[in-house]
Amino acid sequence: ADLRHIRNFAIIAHIDHGKSTLADRLIQLCGGLSDREMKDQVLDSMDIERERGITIKAQAVRLSYQAKDGVTYELNLMDTPGHVDFAYEVSRSLAACEGSLLVVDASQGVEAQTLANVYQAIEAAHEIVPVLNKVDLPAADVPRVKEQIEDVIGIDASEAVEISAKTGLGVPNVLEALVQRLPAPEGNIDGPLQAMLVDSWYDSYLGVIILIRVKHGRIKRGMKIRMMQTGAVHQVDKVGVFTPKMVETGELHAGQMGFLMAGIKTVADTQVGDTITDDAKPALQPLPGFKPSIPVVWCGLFPIDSSEYEHLRDSLAKLRLNDSSFDFAPENSAALGFGFRCGFLGLLHMEIIQERLDREFDLDLITTAPSVVYRMHMTNGDVKELHNPADFPDPVKIATIEEPWVKATIMVPDDYLGNILALCTERRGEQVELTYVGNRAMVVYRLPLNEIVFDFYDRLKSISKGYASFDYEVEGYTEGDLVKVSILVNAEPVDALAFMAHRSQAEYRGRQICERLKDLIPKHLFKIPIQAAIGGKVIARETIAAMRKDVTAKCYGGDISRKRKLLDKQKEGKKRMRQFGKVEIPQTAFIQALRMG
Ligand code: GTP
Repeated sequence: ADLRHIRNFAIIAHIDHGKSTLADRLIQLCGGLSDREMKDQVLDSMDIERERGITIKAQAVRLSYQAKDGVTYELNLMDTPGHVDFAYEVSRSLAACEGSLLVVDASQGVEAQTLANVYQAIEAAHEIVPVLNKVDLPAADVPRVKEQIEDVIGIDASEAVEISAKTGLGVPNVLEALVQRLPAPEGNIDGPLQAMLVDSWYDSYLGVIILIRVKHGRIKRGMKIRMMQTGAVHQVDKVGVFTPKMVETGELHAGQMGFLMAGIKTVADTQVGDTITDDAKPALQPLPGFKPSIPVVWCGLFPIDSSEYEHLRDSLAKLRLNDSSFDFAPENSAALGFGFRCGFLGLLHMEIIQERLDREFDLDLITTAPSVVYRMHMTNGDVKELHNPADFPDPVKIATIEEPWVKATIMVPDDYLGNILALCTERRGEQVELTYVGNRAMVVYRLPLNEIVFDFYDRLKSISKGYASFDYEVEGYTEGDLVKVSILVNAEPVDALAFMAHRSQAEYRGRQICERLKDLIPKHLFKIPIQAAIGGKVIARETIAAMRKDVTAKCYGGDISRKRKLLDKQKEGKKRMRQFGKVEIPQTAFIQALRMG
């Protein structure tokens, strides 16, 4: 074993700049797959990832490359997700490598996420090799993009590798650059075992699979290992690497990465960031860990058909097996019945989970409006986290409320800058910086997370004709003038419609939802007031007029069978109605009131 002949690297890029295409090329050139096995984009293994073209699960692939110096190198490629929601997964993937390929689309240039990812790589002390991709495109402008990389990121781009991952042009030069420019891993092969638990997932045939990077020592089949944080001890069944096929090697040593299986039943027993050591000869210290990923966006998920509650619970549990960053707990709503409060890393993460529940588990769900986690300082000194507006405590017991803020970086062509600034101001943004990169503006804003979880990204894309790119990181909590807005139908509060807002926006948003409900709730025999209120104070009001009496009478004429049908239909409709005091609200009204967000 010679560490000098190993290189561990990640590929970082903005979405669509060609990371997966390049990874496939590298695997094709020196991986363990035949051409027939070489499906498109082998690294994106889940269907949804493939359809949406986004990479979620980080995986490692071992490549074997004979370099120009005649030596055969072991190259371990760590895949990283490309979307802001998964920034945390990027950081732990980077911690397992010594270097990164920075892929930039030569026809597009540096984007907001390129920056976010490359800063993480710099923080992880990576050697960075810039790669200009898509040089086959007529719009590619290599000198301009090189200049951008130097100006904006501040790394030397004079020796950037120019490639077309699509045609294969220049790709062998990437391999040579990896070998020559990235450092070899350092570690003590004969020391006590210290392996970083990079990721784990559940496979229905194989059980829990753990992705590791060995820093010191060796891990072997049959060995008893100990998780240093949880203290759990397991016997190693299998050790090996992905080529990307799973290949057992029986051992991994310092400097290498690969998988291990140890008869572990659930992913909950593995903690990402934990250090794995030899139970018989443990290391004295764990490796520096990474912070756990914390869900920042929460919403309620309720089955439309209440008999599907158990099915929903089982499905959520199954999804969690493969995704420990998502969280859920039972929730009970007067409007929507039994369901779950679920926490996600961001909006895209939320959409992906919802889509999987729909597609893989065939569940019809109502989703309540997403909400961030507020921190409430109570008058008695307690600090409480609020995940659900329905749990808002008695306001007299609250001293102050804090909300999470983010630092957002937006890059946009000059023409659309005005629109972007207006949007950020409307969302309570505070400008931090405004600079230019060629004819593109780069704006940095502080924004409340609550203002971007709803539709910020969609708005940004539509007002910039798709040209703006956006990235954010959560900065911390700041006190704000925040209130809970309740929605009352005929003087009864409807829990599923309550939301948190900044006081300056409470009235506008309260009015919006009252206007919608006015059209969504059918007329009754009496007048129905719909109100939005902060505590006892009404801030918006609409009224549904009473129905004229003769309208119902008409329905009950005709022959008996027709009447029967009508009654059955009404019963059917009943199931889908929720009673609030004297008012019946169709479930569809909730769905629509919430969907229009
Ligand atoms: P995510 O997985 O979403 O992060 O995207 P990615 O960065 O992995 O991008 P991907 O490899 O999926 O490529 C995005 C698109 O660019 C695809 O349609 C590719 O076919 C195309 N593409 C990738 N490399 C090249 C290239 O060198 N030239 C041209 N013309 N197109 C390319």
